[in-house]
Order: sequence, then C-alpha cells, then structure tokens
Amino acid sequence: MTQVQIKEMPDQKGFSSIKDFDIQGKTVLLRADLNVPRQNGKVTDTTRIDRLKPTIDYLTAKGAKVLILSHFGRPDGEQNPEMSLAFLAPVLEKQWAAHVAFSPDCIGDHAKDLAEGLENGQVLLLENVRFYKGEKANDAEFAKQLALLGDIYVNDAFSASHRAHASTAGIAQHLPSAAGLLMEEELNALTIALENPQKPVLAVAGGSKISTKLNVLNNLVEKVDYLVLGGGMANTFLFAIGIEMGKSLCEKDMIDEAKAVFEKAKANNCEIVLPKDVVVVTQLKENAEFQTVPADQIPTDYMAIDIGPQTISYITEKMQNCKTIVWNGPMGVFEIKPFDNGTNEIANFAAKLTQSGQTTSVAGGGDTVAALENADAAKDFTYISTAGGAFLEWLEGKALPGVEALKS
Ligand code: 3PG
Repeated sequence: MTQVQIKEMPDQKGFSSIKDFDIQGKTVLLRADLNVPRQNGKVTDTTRIDRLKPTIDYLTAKGAKVLILSHFGRPDGEQNPEMSLAFLAPVLEKQWAAHVAFSPDCIGDHAKDLAEGLENGQVLLLENVRFYKGEKANDAEFAKQLALLGDIYVNDAFSASHRAHASTAGIAQHLPSAAGLLMEEELNALTIALENPQKPVLAVAGGSKISTKLNVLNNLVEKVDYLVLGGGMANTFLFAIGIEMGKSLCEKDMIDEAKAVFEKAKANNCEIVLPKDVVVVTQLKENAEFQTVPADQIPTDYMAIDIGPQTISYITEKMQNCKTIVWNGPMGVFEIKPFDNGTNEIANFAAKLTQSGQTTSVAGGGDTVAALENADAAKDFTYISTAGGAFLEWLEGKALPGVEALKS
C-alpha cells in the first residue's frame, strides 16, 4: 500500500473530496452503484453508469488505477452467477469510452494480482460485493480485505449509502476516504432542496401507500410550506377527513397516522394540499372510460386514479410562488394512459418554472424518475437523483451510514 497525501483539509461538510487527494499512481477503490435495471441480459437504463463518468474521467485522467466495487441485486451472501457483474464490463467500456477489465472476485490474491497489473489510468471492475455475507453484515474482517486492494476509498454510491455495509461504511475505517463527484453532486442538490432551501418550499409526495412514507411525510411537514399529496396516499388522507373513497386504494387502518400528520403540519404552518377533484374509473385499464368528480363525491363503484383539473390549477397556483420544489412519487396511475395527465401537467409546470430560473427543482426516489420522464419533464428539472431508497431515507431526515462513514 502506498502513502497517500491529502492536499487540503476536508471542507465544512466534514468529508474530503477526491480533489483533495494526490491520486497519481494510487489505487482508488471506488464504491459505485451499478445496480442498474437489466432485461434479457441488456441494461435498460444507463443513467447510473452515465452519471459516474465524470468521476471515472477525473480519476483516470489524474493517473489513478481505479478498482470499482459495487453490488448487483440481492444475492444474499451467495456466489450467484445470475447476479455476476461480468456482463457490465463491456457496457461500461462503451459508455465511458475506457478500457474496463473484470475481476471474478472482489477480495483475495487473484483480485490483488489483477489490480497490481493495472497501468495508471486503467479500470478494473470487481465482482459483486454481495457475493460475500460480510458485505451486508458490515463485517470488519471483510471490510479490511476489501481495503487491502487499494490506497484510497472513494464513495460515489449515494444511492447505496443508506446501507451500513462493508463496502459503503466499514471500509472507510481502513483507508483515507473521500466522496466522489456524483456523491458530492447528490449531497449538494439535497442540501439546496431541504437543508438550506430558498423559501417558500413545495414538496410533492405521491405514491400508493402512506404506511411506507409516513416518516417522509412527518419530516416534510416540518420543513416545507406546502405538501402536495397525490396517488393512493392522498386517498387515505381524504378518508381520514371523513370522505368516502368508493373502491379507491386507501389504507383505512392508517387514519390515526394521517390525522397526526395533519396536526403536525398545522403546528408547523405547512399547508397539506389534497385533491379537490379526482378522475375516477370502474376498471383500471388503458383508455378506460372515466369521469371527473369532486373529491368528496366519488361514486361507490368507482376508484380515484388521478387528480382532476381543479386540483391541477390549485397546485400550479401554489407552485407559482415557490422558490424550491422537492418531488417524490406520481400523482396518479401514470403507467396507464391517460391517467398520467395530473402528474404530467404539474411536472411540466415545475419544469417550466425551473427553466425560467424562478425555481430550483429536485426529484428522486422509486418510480419518480420514470414518472417525470414519461411527462418529458425530467430533463428540465434542476436535479434528478440517481437514488431510490436512499433518497427516501434522506427525505425522512435520517443520517445515511455511507455518508456518515466519510466523516469519521
Ligand atoms: C438501489 O437500487 O436503490 C440501490 O442500489 C440499493 O439497492 P438495495 O435496496 O438492494 O440495497
């Protein structure tokens, strides 16, 4: 292992950047999130790969030897060929226009030999770290074995940083550590959106169930001026204020939790924006016959699956005055047309405000990106996070172990 010089002290965020290190000739262990969607052996969305390119370009241009650590799927500590990362090496080569070799193990002598055989500026992708039980268990011995391969640890996997695993957390105790460029970009965007935002702030929270997003909602009402609710979640809140929801998706056993969110919002001067009118159908299918009705007049046999035009106008009117928009989740069943209309309309309005320079818009988590892409609005948002679960945990106000580990 070679000695590593830190050029500058970590900044006020409490961790170093890769730019603080002299990395020429050093072996950098880069934790990336290459858990990309795959269908029939092909990567269906290269966003996570493309967003890593600036870090790869930086490290290789500076003459580092780059070893990539990543997980793929959830192999549960077993060597599972179905979840091997081998198929990705040629994809990375193409997307990064760089030579990427593959190591069939992420620890041990063979991986070490392959790493030592690298020239400065070359890249080696290591096999799925989750093939070892020590990864998920954040086993100190496994973390040490990973660390043996490199001189510096760089975490560029914000989207995996909600996991306290060996390659996201434990390893940082054994090597000088830094955040990669994508990690820094993600953290900056999130800070601008919620930690230190320009006010007023409007948050859009959609999706089907409040039970999975209760902590998110409780945190948001303390921080934002408007909390716009859509999707099945909004149905539960409407039900909690005494509205009959017909056949709509609705968590009737969550009324007390919904009421508590209302109370907390009131105490924090946060307006919860619920649908005023809704699009209803009897059958959920493409181009199903639908009606638009006031939210408190849903016929018994119908289900609410999108917000209506009155609601869209009310939301866009509120958005108009906001300087920051944080977005997680769709407003309706956006996968089935035309019930993507509510999501599309308000996403495009947020995009327009962003493009006019009036608003900063940050989105992420779960199927948010797919919903914004379907609306053709994603490209016009200020920032789209690559994270799913990590974005949600950050919205909950939780400290992320992978980020905290960089501070120690
Ligand atoms: C993700 O796809 O959100 C991350 O890669 C984390 O994956 P995990 O939920 O399997 O930890």
